[in-house]
Amino acid sequence: MAQIRIRNTNERISDEAEVKAFLDKQNVVYEHWDINKLADPLREKYILSDEEKAQILETYDAEIRDLAGRRGYEIWDVISLSDSTPNIEELLKKFEQVHTHTEDEIRAIVSGQGIFIIKAEGEIGYFDVELEAGDVISVPENVNHFFTLMENRQIVAVRLFIEKDGWVAYNVDDPNFTKA
Ligand SMILES: [Fe+2]
Repeated sequence: MAQIRIRNTNERISDEAEVKAFLDKQNVVYEHWDINKLADPLREKYILSDEEKAQILETYDAEIRDLAGRRGYEIWDVISLSDSTPNIEELLKKFEQVHTHTEDEIRAIVSGQGIFIIKAEGEIGYFDVELEAGDVISVPENVNHFFTLMENRQIVAVRLFIEKDGWVAYNVDDPNFTKA
């Protein structure tokens, strides 16, 4: 289950209903997939062959098609990141840049953890959404955000796109960005 940390005040929201209500207010989609559906050999596995990635997509085919039907996604894939990923340091540095997309950015976490840092509407400022396996999140289009890993630096996630070109990152220099 996701947890929220508001950067300006360090306030944490961990109650599931409160997390959902907070994210609803920010128009952030927050749902769950049943992580028990994943075959044992694929759990917590961060180096994946193409066959294993296809197996993950097959496992969650109904969930993916349900989301696609509701929200217009046309293509999907599996991304995996860990210390074994070549250039992980550079990649993470590149990630940590506030940006926007013209499409929403939807991720379903299959293994591991990750954090979306998102700019709230109004006075709240930036907040972290700490995600774990089973969490599905979508950052709305044109909202400032970035993604990073947690300390264990391991994640496998399903990504869905309306079209690949809609997902170009537009970097934003926001003087109000709260670093930590
Ligand atoms: Fe993004």
